[in-house]
Amino acid sequence: MEKDILIRTKNLSKYYAVGDETIKALDDVNLEIERGQIVAILGTSGSGKSTLLNMLAGLERPTKGEVQIGKFRIDELTEAQLTKFRQRYTGFIFQAYNLLPTLTALENVAFPLCFRGVDKQTREKKAFEMLKLVGIEKRYKHKPTEMSGGQQQRVGIARALVTDPSIIFADEPTGNLDSHTTQEVMELIRNIVDTRHNTVIMVTHDKSVAEYADIIVNISDGKVVSKEYRRNMEN
Ligand SMILES: Nc1ncnc2c1ncn2[C@@H]1O[C@H](COP(=O)(O)OP(=O)(O)OP(=O)(O)O)[C@@H](O)[C@H]1O
Ligand SMILES: [Mg+2]
Repeated sequence: MEKDILIRTKNLSKYYAVGDETIKALDDVNLEIERGQIVAILGTSGSGKSTLLNMLAGLERPTKGEVQIGKFRIDELTEAQLTKFRQRYTGFIFQAYNLLPTLTALENVAFPLCFRGVDKQTREKKAFEMLKLVGIEKRYKHKPTEMSGGQQQRVGIARALVTDPSIIFADEPTGNLDSHTTQEVMELIRNIVDTRHNTVIMVTHDKSVAEYADIIVNISDGKVVSKEYRRNMEN
């Protein structure tokens, strides 16, 4: 079967000047990521994981190199084009959930649809479906402070999914959760990807979290040092 490459980077690099020193946060990264897979970017603190994720999502500009996602050259888009690209094609899951504190679970999940000209009734219907998908519809009226960390992250996942994005970016999605809840959340993400075929790019320093991925990209000092293919891979 021919590979369906969604994301491709070429010599992707990010340098920071700090005093007289140049820090190579990312150093000539060449990656190909296929559609419908979970990719874990695994490395120790300071290895460049977030830098890589932010560059793929167009949140930061590379110093040099290219990021191609589908038909878009992310590194060449204007800020306005990037905003549109993110709204249309991506979802984000954050370590600290980043839910809006004054909104209910339902309103938080419905929120990304506001930018898409979807009417309120449809927004709330879709949001409720997403809450069901992540198994937390009973808490739909709860504000973030009225939920546990695991419940808040389920809401965060529902919010990331509500626009049916091609790509979901997640930086340490289980970083604030205990090990049992971490497993539950990773199994949820795994099941969703297996049925909905989104592509997930996930950053973690936790090997046991990375093991839910199809591919583990090991990163050290801004370089990809190895890739481990774990599931469903023919070559
Ligand atoms: N704005 C910046 N200015 C200077 N150096 C930076 C900046 N952002 C990141 N760095 C450096 O780039 C390197 C990679 O940082 P990055 O945040 O990508 O690491 P990380 O792998 O995500 O770490 P963590 O697991 O702690 O989140 C680090 O050495 C960091 O100090
Ligand atoms: Mg980081």
